[in-house]
Amino acid sequence: MEFRHLGRSGLMVSEISYGNWLTHGSQVEEDAAKQCVQAALDEGITTFDTADVYAATKAEEVLGRALKDVRRESLEIFTKVYWPTGPGRNDRGLSRKHLTESIHASLRRLQTDYVDLYQAHRFDYETPLEETLKTFDDLVRQGKVLYIGVSEWTAEQIAQALKIADEMGFDRIVSSQPQYSMLWRVIESEVVPLSEKEGIGQIVWSPIAQGVLTGKYLPGGQPPEGSRATDKSGGSNMIARWMRDDVLTRVQELKPIAADLGLSMAQLAIAWVLQNPNVSSAIIGASRPEQVRDNVRASGVKLDADVLRRIDDVLGPIVERDPSKTESPRTRP
Ligand SMILES: NC(=O)c1ccc[n+]([C@@H]2O[C@H](COP(=O)([O-])OP(=O)(O)OC[C@H]3O[C@@H](n4cnc5c(N)ncnc54)[C@H](OP(=O)(O)O)[C@@H]3O)[C@@H](O)[C@H]2O)c1
Repeated sequence: MEFRHLGRSGLMVSEISYGNWLTHGSQVEEDAAKQCVQAALDEGITTFDTADVYAATKAEEVLGRALKDVRRESLEIFTKVYWPTGPGRNDRGLSRKHLTESIHASLRRLQTDYVDLYQAHRFDYETPLEETLKTFDDLVRQGKVLYIGVSEWTAEQIAQALKIADEMGFDRIVSSQPQYSMLWRVIESEVVPLSEKEGIGQIVWSPIAQGVLTGKYLPGGQPPEGSRATDKSGGSNMIARWMRDDVLTRVQELKPIAADLGLSMAQLAIAWVLQNPNVSSAIIGASRPEQVRDNVRASGVKLDADVLRRIDDVLGPIVERDPSKTESPRTRP
């Protein structure tokens, strides 16, 4: 496993990290969840990503139990706040009240005194940015949170936050967590250039497009049993956007490229996001430990310009590049 700095910060993260969205506390049983976490640790992953909202707060509990006997200093634990964690109108968003309550609950569930990175899971149009940033800064001073990040914020929103932080002397955002894969490149034109200039690192999600870039879903075919596309607890809705014949057909055409390099399709997809030097880490998901062992082999792989060109030629018009696709709800969910 290779390691990178999280943006311009002093924190090092494993360039492949492990995330538990849709799996822990939901699609997979606790045993399988623990085996995936153990495989991640065995393969040198030190960085783990979760969120208060995953599996209605159960995902943090499962991760907390799976990591509880691991030396805390050897781990980087990331969580997030914004999406609803309860029925109340204050159980969501980025207000001082919800940030404070949510970090306390996350720390309890994760069985730790602090998280390494606390991320605003979306932009909250209903809370003044100053209120959010001041509260984040307070949590850093209290030692409950070591670094601050955001997820799916536009370049303009990140720039606004940096300006306020600089003016007020608040702790600065060090990371952004966007969706990024060969198929979804919407950060390349605005978020990445700003982040390079400002020392922000990307921790990218769904690098294999939720499993689609493994090539296991065949156009016109039934999805394999036990895959996310058959997961009725939520996964099948989330992956639906990629389950189109034009996408699945072109993905099959990537197979010779992976084969020529001696890589699995998942390794090719993860290696592809890691070629971008602004990416600090690619967060992989897994429903079974073999997937973790397959995917971590992408660490350290170099893809030359000719390979990148071949990938672009295959995917052509199905690649999404529109920066306006980086969105947060206009009102709180
Ligand atoms: N900030 C945000 O808004 C946001 C949003 C989404 C995700 N995330 C983060 O990103 C993490 C990763 O997202 P993701 O799970 O969508 O990532 P992903 O790595 O693109 O997809 C993971 C899924 O693909 C399948 N898979 C993985 N490796 C495979 C292999 N080698 N062969 C065949 N199938 C394989 C597995 O599903 P099956 O076995 O079930 O098919 C696995 O659960 C999340 O856990 C979370 O931490 C953040």
